[in-house]
Parts: sequence; C-alpha cells; structure tokens
Amino acid sequence: MNILVTGGAGYIGSHTAVALLDAGHSVVIMDNLSNSKAEVVANIEEITSKQVVFYEADAADPVSVERVFKAHKFDGVIHFAGYKAVGESVEKPLDYYYNNIVSTMLLGKNCLKYGVNKFVFSSSATVYGDNDVPLDEDMELGKTTNPYGETKAISERILTDVAKANPNFAVSLLRYFNPVGAHPSGLIGEDPKGIPNNLLPYITQVAKGTLKQLKVFGDDYDTADGTGVRDYIHVMDLAEGHIAALDYLTAGVHIYNLGTGRGTSVLELIQAFEEANQIKIPYEIVGRRPGDVAATYADVTKAKRELDWEAKRDLHDMVKDAWHFEKRLGK
Ligand code: NAD
Ligand code: WQD
Repeated sequence: MNILVTGGAGYIGSHTAVALLDAGHSVVIMDNLSNSKAEVVANIEEITSKQVVFYEADAADPVSVERVFKAHKFDGVIHFAGYKAVGESVEKPLDYYYNNIVSTMLLGKNCLKYGVNKFVFSSSATVYGDNDVPLDEDMELGKTTNPYGETKAISERILTDVAKANPNFAVSLLRYFNPVGAHPSGLIGEDPKGIPNNLLPYITQVAKGTLKQLKVFGDDYDTADGTGVRDYIHVMDLAEGHIAALDYLTAGVHIYNLGTGRGTSVLELIQAFEEANQIKIPYEIVGRRPGDVAATYADVTKAKRELDWEAKRDLHDMVKDAWHFEKRLGK
C-alpha cells in the first residue's frame, strides 16, 4: 500500500515509516519539522535501503495538504503530526487545539475527496482520564486533565462521526501508552528538543552526563514502591502495531490500546536501565508533578484478539536501545 505518514520525521512516525517500508509498503512523509530534523528521513532510507518521498509541509495548512493528496494516490493515512507536550498545552491551548484538530479535519476532508478510505490515528491513553487500571477500550472516556488530551479526545470523536457518515471509511484509533526505546540500529530514536519532559530520555541524558541527576516526582503514590507506574512499550512494537492495524482495517471505527499490559514504576525503570547498561543513575526524590496519576497501564487483549498483535520486546530491550541511540547522538 502507498501510505501518507504525517509527522513521519518524528519519534513514533519515523519508526513506523521504517516498519512500513520493511513490510513492503511505500511511504510519503509530510512533516513541518517543528519538532524533528530532516536528517531523520535520510536515516529512515539508510535503515531500510528504500526511498521515501518527503514534503516539508504543514498538515494544518489546507493548500499544503491538498497539494500532497493531488500528487499521490494514497491507500491510507497514518496521522502522527501534532504537538504532544502536556505542560506546553496548558500554556498554549490555542496552538494545540488548532494544530492537532485542524490537521485531523483537513486530512479527513482530503481522504474523502480523494477516495482514501483507511485512516490510522495517533491517540493516547490520556483520553482515559482518571479511569481505573487496567484501561480498556470499552470504557467511557474520563475527563482529560489538559488541552493536549482534549485534542486527542476531540479528534477521536471527529473521526468517529466521519466514519458514521461515510460507510466505506475505515478508522483505527490507536491509544499509545508510554513509547520508549529506539530502533536497534541507533540511527533513529527519541531526540526531544530542550530538557526532556519524559522519564527515559531524561535518564539517558543523565547517563551521558548532559543532565546532573534525575528528579523522581514523588514516592508517596499508592503503588508497590510509591513511585509512578506506567505501561512502557518499545517504539518498534508500537510501530509494528500500526502495520497490524492497517492490515486488519475494515470500514467503521476500531479502537486499540497499544501497550504491554504491564506496569513499571519509576524506580524499577531506573534499576532496569542501570542493570542493562551498567551505569549508575543518580536521583533524588522530590514532590509529585502536578497532573500525574499513580498508575496507568493497558488491557491489551483486544489488539491481540483482533489484530493478532502483542508487544514482544521487554524492558531490557527498551532501556538498551534507548541508551544505544543516546550514545550515537553524541551532542
Ligand atoms: P514527535 O513530536 O516526535 O513527532 C510529531 C511530528 O509531527 C514531529 O516530527 C513534528 O515536526 C510533526 N508536526 C507537528 N505538527 C505538524 C504539522 N502541523 N504539520 C506537519 N508536521 C507536524 O512526537 P511523537 O512522540 O512521535 O508522537 C507522534 C504522535 O503520537 C503525536 O500525535 C502524539 O500526540 C502521539 N502520542 C505520543 C506519545 C508519546 O509518549 N510520544 C504517546 C501517545 C500519543
Ligand atoms: C512517566 C513517569 C512521572 C520524568 C506522558 C504524557 C502522555 C504521553 C506519554 C503523549 C511518571 C515520572 C518523569 C522525570 C519522573 N504523551 N517522571 N521524573 O507523564 O506517563 O505520559 O508521556 O501522549 O500524554 O502525559 O510520561 O515519561 O513524563 O512520566 O519521576 O523527570 O515518570 O512522574 O510517573 P507520562 P513521563
């Protein structure tokens, strides 16, 4: 299939582009490089020895989007493009609502206009709000706690309504938990701008000496060791989940959790990193981060049952590959 990958120079999009090319699909990437670098596209081509068509363009701009749809016959779209920093979304809600929702609407409009009937959307476990774990796809969505999460919940509703109005339109809403790690080549990975918000990229920068020590945001949660529990999933497992979602995609709306179904605490992740890479990670326990919840992890039985997909890589793989990529970054 010929797939449009918006945000394909980004962390998850680039790994999914590699998986698509390795699976024999062709890929067109549309990315405005607001949170990535053009060299990622070259790295995708180096890893796969395949060519990628790349447009440096804004998925929230109607002229740019239509120009891409006019130039190619797509069999499907995977929509990664968007802003994703929770804290930033609280400070700049309009930027987030505009970028994340207008891009979804424009892509939906062009899919209908140009007869593209497969749409895979990057959603987030954030849409579950304060539901109890394990989180499952049939749950009523909870109240999201930030504008970023709202943009995901609203985009899900928009795509659901588009599928209801267009019987041939097929939508897969993929709710990611905590993607971490990197392609084993070390050529692509998570390379956040500035100080990382997320745990594992922060740890790898402490390991490299770029950052002095890790702050553990609270050890008084109702969890086994008091620190936050999350469902970390290797980004290559996540990427392969997109291939499965595309392969099994039929008309209507299909929602899947992409996680491992296992919860890991902050202290457990630190320990796994230290053991796998033989590097000590200095840390101090500080107060809770506002907005954090104690534990989130997925019920992953539906993706296994319907997509014949499950995460294969373990915590050791995640922290090993993350460190291998960080070391190659060299900055
Ligand atoms: P990322 O920032 O690395 O990738 C997003 C890419 O989209 C970037 O390359 C950026 O330049 C591009 N982009 C942003 N706005 C654009 C626009 N208007 N037009 C074209 N390109 C645009 O983030 P990521 O971690 O790869 O996340 C990809 C998607 O998955 C996002 O939609 C995010 O909300 C979602 N998601 C991420 C996580 C996570 O923890 N990383 C978890 C759940 C969901
Ligand atoms: C994980 C755990 C922190 C950093 C976020 C977004 C979510 C999704 C995935 C987009 C928590 C603790 C973290 C640090 C720490 N992104 N932590 N010190 O918050 O689960 O999810 O990324 O969709 O929307 O909310 O991920 O990596 O920030 O935190 O102690 O320096 O690590 O408290 O328990 P989170 P995270």
